[in-house]
Amino acid sequence: MRIFSFSSIDSTNRKALELAEQGADHGTAVVAESQSRGRGRLGRSWQSVPGKGLYCSIILYPNLPLVDFPRLTFAAGLAVAEAIDRLYHLNTGLKWPNDIYFGRKKCGGILTESANLQASSPSRRSVVVGIGLNVNTAENDFSEELRMRATSLLLQSGREIALDELFSCIHSGLLAEVDRFERQGFQQLMGRWRTRDILKGQRMRWLSTEGCCVEGISLGPDDSGLLHIVDDAGCRHEVLSGDVQLAASSGQEK
Ligand code: BTN
Repeated sequence: MRIFSFSSIDSTNRKALELAEQGADHGTAVVAESQSRGRGRLGRSWQSVPGKGLYCSIILYPNLPLVDFPRLTFAAGLAVAEAIDRLYHLNTGLKWPNDIYFGRKKCGGILTESANLQASSPSRRSVVVGIGLNVNTAENDFSEELRMRATSLLLQSGREIALDELFSCIHSGLLAEVDRFERQGFQQLMGRWRTRDILKGQRMRWLSTEGCCVEGISLGPDDSGLLHIVDDAGCRHEVLSGDVQLAASSGQEK
């Protein structure tokens, strides 16, 4: 397994997908100090303040049935949150499905993309886990638009953080989490994930990929990762994808 480091690149996910196509092995990673075209979820872009954040992508060949592949996103969020807490003694929250949060502020996000899912051999099906974290970002480094709703590990811990140590802890933690998922299944993982859920019991809004909006109280994700919401009329919704946000009480969420 190799680690490819770049001072600047368009997108570490794009590069990792290319390496996976070329047959890079499990655990191979791409890390960059800056990205010119960082990709976010749902077709958004990811602002990558040069030198201040962790921008990395890790290639996995999970020994799991295809139905479990989308669930790796929860494994990734959990691995990142546990690495941060272990290193800096923080209390990292997760927002479904895998945003990294402190209180109502976002500190990082994860974009999971697949390659070779139609590969003839199941052992060649790969997933790229792209992780973007605000690390040594000061308030003024964030654009005005982001400042109200973004935070960083520097702002949370009050200390400057070594990016290489953080990367290595996340990298080894993610590989261990995937191994555990393969051996022990998804339920144990969701059990730990739920203890970090920032939406549970909160008023929230779900915008489906088809453009429908539901507002209600989050009941949290079930054992298969589906998020349950109960709306004001008492109807229960099961959310598989789309955008979820804390409802507007503070006006700080995107
Ligand atoms: C999100 O929308 O919250 C997910 C953001 C993921 C950003 C990371 S930065 C490293 C990797 N490379 C990319 O192009 N995107 C991911």
